[in-house]
Amino acid sequence: MTKTITAYLATAGVAALMSLGAATASLADELTDAQIIGIYSQVNSFDIETALLGELMGASDEVRAIGKMVSADHSGVRAAVHDIAEEIGVEPVLPPARIGAARDHDATILALRDLDGAAFDAAYLRHEVAFHQAAIEAVEQLLIPETESDVLKAHFEAVLPAFYHHLEMNMAAAETLNISIEQ
Ligand SMILES: [Fe+2]
Repeated sequence: MTKTITAYLATAGVAALMSLGAATASLADELTDAQIIGIYSQVNSFDIETALLGELMGASDEVRAIGKMVSADHSGVRAAVHDIAEEIGVEPVLPPARIGAARDHDATILALRDLDGAAFDAAYLRHEVAFHQAAIEAVEQLLIPETESDVLKAHFEAVLPAFYHHLEMNMAAAETLNISIEQ
């Protein structure tokens, strides 16, 4: 598994997001389902907050509509995974190495809040494209392979199409609004 995780860490687009970071790399070999659920819940929470900001501050109809949908979807996913945790008798745990990701997320939110109008929309869509690319990669390459529980694994497989859909929606909105998603 080390190779996959190292490859993942090397290619993850958004350090703030799923970057398990150097400190977690040693952990990643033996992530428990409790930790996987904790990390996954945290990342869903990040995107719920970002998407709510998009719904609130988006200058375009497109960004406000995407923000509304994405925040609702990820709220549903977060609730679903906590139900799964209960079902399989696991108490979600957030590895301490994920504190850095929380700090990075705070910085992202604060930076977005300083923008408005078209500048906000551009920064928001760029972030969301990179976020979903990294999230999809992490689910496919790290979380699914590391998950022990069949129920949890089935959940990841079931939500992947929605994550791809979010990615495509953000990319389509960027195209409509003439926003380059190059970082
Ligand atoms: Fe999403």
